[in-house]
Amino acid sequence: MPSSRIPGFYRLGQEDRIKKIKENLKLSDEDVKLLGSGLKPKQADGMIENVIGVYSLPLGVALNFKINDKDYLIPMATEESSVVAAASNAAKIFRSAGGFKACSTKPLMFGQLQVTGCSLPEAASNVLEKKKNLLDLANQADPVLVEAGGGAQDVRARILGDLLVVHLVVNVADAMGANAVNSMCESVAPLIEDLSGGRVNFKILSNYAVERTASAEASIPIESLGDKVAADIVSGFRFAQADVYRAATHNKGIMNGVSAVCLATGNDTRAIESGAHAYACRNGIYQPLSSWEIIDDSLKGFIKLPVAVGIVGGGTMHPTARLMIQMLGVSSSRELGEVLACVGLAQNFAALKALASEGIQKGHMRLHARNIALIAGASGSEVEQTANLLIEADNIRVDEAKKILAKLRGGNN
Ligand code: MEV
Repeated sequence: MPSSRIPGFYRLGQEDRIKKIKENLKLSDEDVKLLGSGLKPKQADGMIENVIGVYSLPLGVALNFKINDKDYLIPMATEESSVVAAASNAAKIFRSAGGFKACSTKPLMFGQLQVTGCSLPEAASNVLEKKKNLLDLANQADPVLVEAGGGAQDVRARILGDLLVVHLVVNVADAMGANAVNSMCESVAPLIEDLSGGRVNFKILSNYAVERTASAEASIPIESLGDKVAADIVSGFRFAQADVYRAATHNKGIMNGVSAVCLATGNDTRAIESGAHAYACRNGIYQPLSSWEIIDDSLKGFIKLPVAVGIVGGGTMHPTARLMIQMLGVSSSRELGEVLACVGLAQNFAALKALASEGIQKGHMRLHARNIALIAGASGSEVEQTANLLIEADNIRVDEAKKILAKLRGGNN
């Protein structure tokens, strides 16, 4: 894997950036075309109903990530400015202190079967007694998954009032797993009805993927931030612990990065978001997904979240998503989950650091100023110069940018 450090990348024009990525990853011209219009209207037509076109979003690359001593170029699809820059800046800071350490659990997902009208708790024990038959039946529904090293591996019974809820626990290997799990649930439903004497109503995957999690941690010496900023980051985290209003925003910042990577890799952003927010509530109150503390002379961050994402099947077969998974260089769904945890932690750190120092708007303004410079007609090195002068003048407007450009060009002639 090539280095994820590409100094000055953001200052390059778009074509030069593409050239750099092409060189770094040895992409073909065909690959590069996918960055422009990856999905043909015909392919789109086969994906959803009533298709009238394709919808594009900016696709960026977050740099500087080192995770478990491996470099990653991380694709992000998002409409929100500053997300890619914030992740890259945070990753650069952590990189100087060794990068991120990440780990993950096996990719276990749950299918739920809701059984009504049975007598409890006997129905539950009758179901559990035939666990082996149920698992065999489930695995017959997806021999490809079994071949790939996954498959149904456990049956659990939960009694919720007068309901029996049967969980089918499935190792989904490198897929997100929704299709596999849903098919398995449907295939075991008749046997569960026989065993329980009840009626199976809903049979569907749960997005609360608490046994498919990834964790990441990173730390930096306090001296690189300053005592005040480090202490204010921890204090800001405590604010999120104490207050759901703040925790929701804290987690939104984390998901800015996580969802952008999911979208770029063709994963289901709603699935990962519902899982993350449910996990944030696992103790009965909505909590921040990450934590920050000062240990000795370092600021240390930690995050853990459910990561129901895949690298094969479903949306990951989108041609641009395939290329992005290739660019990311992950070889399993678990590795993708670990990357997501690190991106979430980096994104969170960037937000907390900005909030604990210059505030959030300054970074936005920098990017906004570059956009205004482009709208006013700046190109090449003029973009950065005009943006800097707009910020200096505290007047980020197109008419001001046009005046600055005229002066710059006059001066250059
Ligand atoms: C904005 O999209 C995200 C932040 O509000 C996150 C946070 O406040 O932690 C900056």
